[in-house]
Amino acid sequence: MENYLDWIYMGVMSVFVGGAVRKFLASHISAAPTVVAWLGVTLVVEKLWSHSVPAVLALGAICVACCLYSAKTAPAPVLPVEGKAVLITGCDTGFGRAAAQRLDAQGFEVFATVLDLSGEGARDLRRACSSRLTLLQVDITQPMQVQQALLDTKAKLGLRGLWGLVNNAGVCVNFGDAELSLMSNYRGCMEVNFFGTLNVTKTFLPLVRQSKGRIVTISSPAGEQPFPCLAAYGASKAALNLFMSTLRHELDPWGVKVSTILPSSYKTGQSSNQEYWECQYKNMIHNLSPSLLEEYGEEYTKETQELFQRYAQTANEDLSPVINTISEALLSPHPLVRYYAGPGVGLMYFIYSYLPLSVSDKFLQRIFVQKKVIPRALRKENGLNSSFLHNNNNNNNNNNVDTTEKK
Ligand SMILES: *[C@@H]1O[C@H](CO)[C@@H](O)[C@H](O)[C@H]1NC(C)=O
Repeated sequence: MENYLDWIYMGVMSVFVGGAVRKFLASHISAAPTVVAWLGVTLVVEKLWSHSVPAVLALGAICVACCLYSAKTAPAPVLPVEGKAVLITGCDTGFGRAAAQRLDAQGFEVFATVLDLSGEGARDLRRACSSRLTLLQVDITQPMQVQQALLDTKAKLGLRGLWGLVNNAGVCVNFGDAELSLMSNYRGCMEVNFFGTLNVTKTFLPLVRQSKGRIVTISSPAGEQPFPCLAAYGASKAALNLFMSTLRHELDPWGVKVSTILPSSYKTGQSSNQEYWECQYKNMIHNLSPSLLEEYGEEYTKETQELFQRYAQTANEDLSPVINTISEALLSPHPLVRYYAGPGVGLMYFIYSYLPLSVSDKFLQRIFVQKKVIPRALRKENGLNSSFLHNNNNNNNNNNVDTTEKK
């Protein structure tokens, strides 16, 4: 009898703990408190069990926990959409376009900025959205255009404020080892992802403060964790994250809530545009110093390029997890500070935050670009004996390698 109950107990426990883990892996980090609660109950039940409490009681405790859990996950209350205006940047493609369409359908008055008013994205939005939609041409790196967008928005809003600013516009100029990435790549990412977003935020903030509204920024887990080959993009997003966190503190007294969304990898913008990456790659090779190219070897850079493109092909196509969080961040009475949106991104966060660096380093390298080719100079070195290797490392500082870029 005892034995039989043990099995039931084991079964229920595995379902229970498995469910918690699955929940955690599948969704964003807001699941963490729930998971802790689940595991806490598990421990309590375990304790009761060891004190020979009847199995029925232990199972009862689990049922109560499950009921509480499902009650907690009932749809959260949302604020009314009525009369709320939001401005979204970067609506030509990807998250921006999808968000503009969704928020318009929800009843928001949407101001969508696009790079190209006569482009496909703008055309799609015009067709799919209500007459409340306003399209504005803005390149966020052009302060004059940002300023013009403010004037146009104010003209439509009259005395009303702006409920939400959704900072979506962003770029990844190129990818590759940090040493091989061009200065123009670093600057390009900073210019759009950081300075562009900064200028837009500062420009529209008075309107958002007026309505005690929301600032929602699409960032990237690459701004928190050292993804291989994404130093330039990651650094710009890291700057953005820190800026938004600071803003969050400072705007708290104003009643403005600031949320950052960190999506997993999605097919958006240029991410699956082979031609674009080929072109960026050629540009990099062309501008790299010959000595650097010689040390790394073209077979090395080529492999990185191919691995990355292959990775981009496996990116998610269903944007809805991210669009849902944008909507939640705008409409929840208590939006989260950070939303990890999309499959796998919660797991990445967990591994990076809670496991030793050696584990998370391996993990990042394994899921991302698994390079097989090592740089040419290292290959040659490995062919020689280790004492040479040692000496060579010591001499690194004296190496007279010209690493300056040609413009
Ligand atoms: C945006 O940037 C431009 C150029 O740097 C600057 O003149 C303008 O004041 C900025 N906008 C805000 C609101 O700070």
